[in-house]
Amino acid sequence: SSGVGRRPDGAVAVAGVDVRDLAAEHGTPAYVLDEADFRTRARAYRTAFEAAFGAVGTGVDVYYAGKALLTVAVARWAREEGLRVDTASGGELAVALRAEVPGAEIGLHGNNKSDAEILRALDAGVGRIIVDSLVEIERVARLAAERGVVAPVMVRVTTGVHAGGHEYIATAHEDQKFGLSVNPASGGESPAMTALLQVLKHPELRLLGIHSHIGSQILDPDGFEAAARVVLRLRADLAERSGVLVDEVDLGGGYGIAYLPGDVALDPERVAKDIAQSVAGVCQDLGTSLPRFSIEPGRAIVGPAGLTLYTVGTVKPVTVSADDGTDFTRTYVSVDGGMSDNIRPALYGAAYHAEVVGRSSAAETVLARVVGKHCESGDIVVHEVQLPADVREGDLLAVAATGAYGRSMASNYNMLPRPPVVAVADGASRVLVRRETEDDLLGLDQG
Ligand code: LLP
Repeated sequence: SSGVGRRPDGAVAVAGVDVRDLAAEHGTPAYVLDEADFRTRARAYRTAFEAAFGAVGTGVDVYYAGKALLTVAVARWAREEGLRVDTASGGELAVALRAEVPGAEIGLHGNNKSDAEILRALDAGVGRIIVDSLVEIERVARLAAERGVVAPVMVRVTTGVHAGGHEYIATAHEDQKFGLSVNPASGGESPAMTALLQVLKHPELRLLGIHSHIGSQILDPDGFEAAARVVLRLRADLAERSGVLVDEVDLGGGYGIAYLPGDVALDPERVAKDIAQSVAGVCQDLGTSLPRFSIEPGRAIVGPAGLTLYTVGTVKPVTVSADDGTDFTRTYVSVDGGMSDNIRPALYGAAYHAEVVGRSSAAETVLARVVGKHCESGDIVVHEVQLPADVREGDLLAVAATGAYGRSMASNYNMLPRPPVVAVADGASRVLVRRETEDDLLGLDQG
């Protein structure tokens, strides 16, 4: 995060707090969150999108995607920076409500929401329920009728545009569980159009608009523009069919961040401008007014604001045979966590950067692999990184940019208690979520 720097004695500080003090006070492994960095990124996204969409004559709401990391404090920070909160389950909704985010500023997602989750959302007066199937439209209508309320809904559509990493592809038909396709099955009406018309038939439902999410860790804004074009055309088609021009279009999340030192993150100002200008042009061509927009960034707000602090245990040089028959040495550096606190390398082959942060070292570097303490060989934290040759037991090691989808996807594999989430700000730290204990875990076991 931007608040991370080396001190003259070689140790790293986060927001003015020495990592050695963080480790002493909170133990390791620990998720460390730079509050100011989170707030700065949240504000940057909001102001960039507000300025760009304002310049073409419409408004935009920024929802923080809580799936990336949601704690009560994090939800409060998002709200204080003018963001709304996007939730993907009853549990995430409960956190947002505990943080006193007004229901009207919360969205609820999910391809298989339960009746209980939908009722909870209706009772909280959420601003929008994003519906994902025809059966769910009927389910929400039935439950809204039961409660005597009108449910505000958006229909999630799939545009055939998939983005992530450096590329995007557009395919005609979707073979995945989310959304309703804009492509007609065989010359008829598209599932997306069917769903929109179905919502309009229900007096218990209010159709807010259309939602599209195309992927994650996107570094090229073309995919957002391509998807927006498809959604805006669907909106115009719906108006022609039904006379209803929906007010809102949500373009989802997916804004990419830098994970490694050389990576370049998506620039919110540039991407906001590109999208705003593009959608303004599309609406002009279609002869429709501009809708209000919304976006749902998660990773881009919280990812770079977090790092994971580990303590090094076993260091083991392993001789490896290269493809050309020569041997080389890889130094396996084991830390006190692993795939239970960060599943992303094992799940996606995600790359991270690690550094020894408790001291400086004048030693040469060696090719290292940072691994966890779990009982499988895929338990890798960083595949390949240069670390000082004198890396040793007791060293503090930090892995950068773990704020998103680290804690939120953590497990108790091998009965490891999940690490705490520690916030640092203005030279002080505080625990947002405490470390689990063995008693927490054993307490669930009924014998
Ligand atoms: N909105 C919707 C509807 C989504 O499905 C997602 C992510 C987001 C927003 C936020 O996307 P972001 O801005 O954070 O990229 N666990 C994976 C990523 C899966 C994301 C699923 N949906 C990872 O660790 O990379």
